[in-house]
Amino acid sequence: MSDSKHSGKHDREMLLEMMHSTTKTSAEDLLISYKGILYPSVLCCLETFQALETFEAREDDILVVTYPKSGTNWLVQILYEMVSIVHNKEPLLDTTMIEFGSPEILARFKDRPSPRIISTHLQFKNIPKSMFEKKVKILLVLRNPKDTAISFYNFHNSLPPLPSYNSWNLFFKDFISGKVCYGPYFEFVAAWDNHFNDKTMMAITFEEMKVDFPTALKKISEFCQLPLNEEQIDLVARCTSFNSMKEQSENTHGKLGDSFFRKGEIGDWKNCFTEDQSKVVDEMFEKYLAGTKLGKMLNYAKYCKW
Ligand code: A3P
Repeated sequence: MSDSKHSGKHDREMLLEMMHSTTKTSAEDLLISYKGILYPSVLCCLETFQALETFEAREDDILVVTYPKSGTNWLVQILYEMVSIVHNKEPLLDTTMIEFGSPEILARFKDRPSPRIISTHLQFKNIPKSMFEKKVKILLVLRNPKDTAISFYNFHNSLPPLPSYNSWNLFFKDFISGKVCYGPYFEFVAAWDNHFNDKTMMAITFEEMKVDFPTALKKISEFCQLPLNEEQIDLVARCTSFNSMKEQSENTHGKLGDSFFRKGEIGDWKNCFTEDQSKVVDEMFEKYLAGTKLGKMLNYAKYCKW
């Protein structure tokens, strides 16, 4: 991938344009592999992965980490709204993930004002080391695996840079074996659980945000040291409701808005999973996450039982 012909354009707009103008072809053309994990070739390149190894974090960066389709855009927008209130400036939303685009785009993160809100789907082992050295605040957003899978399946079929699937059953097989972008869900969450610490990291779930949004927003603002009063929390809640973000999505995500803001619900998996598929995921949960801190947070019995 190259951005030379687009120089001068805002990086986010350029990446959205690239996503939109991609022609759907085979998985072989649309995916690249780096250190055993698949990535969308339209958005990611090996040079940027190498450049990430020496990325310089700042102490006041806020890193949002998610497995795809767990609520990344939601959290990023929340943080932009919070920063804009606390620092009294216009939110210049940029949802460009740190691993997207060319090394030149990565280099332009240097020009961003503090506090930078940086998002990524990278696995724990691929996070730039300076993020840990600088003790950057890491906000991990988790979503139950069954809804994540359904959301990911729909995203594959609506987003040009991702390979399409003829059926949910075919996608389910790839999701379970980790042959999807960013690799296996369960290993992603388990690795973050192994390295979780309460000092620099906070985990929050999509489900707790849906069930009690004001409390979730307070937790986020406290952890990120972005103090807000009740009225300001209420304002952030209104700007980042599903309906509000969907209405604004043409401004924030261009013609791809509807792909990013689909249903925003808990439990959509029940419309697609077979009982056998549900059992397979239950077994994976038992194997990788039962008894872990992050596994408990997922409240699996409530959100994922058949
Ligand atoms: P669905 O496909 O289930 O609707 P990501 O930003 O990581 O790609 O996650 C996308 C998922 O988060 C989509 O789920 C999307 O609808 C949902 N989402 C985005 N903004 C949301 C909001 N404000 N409230 C609830 N869900 C939201």
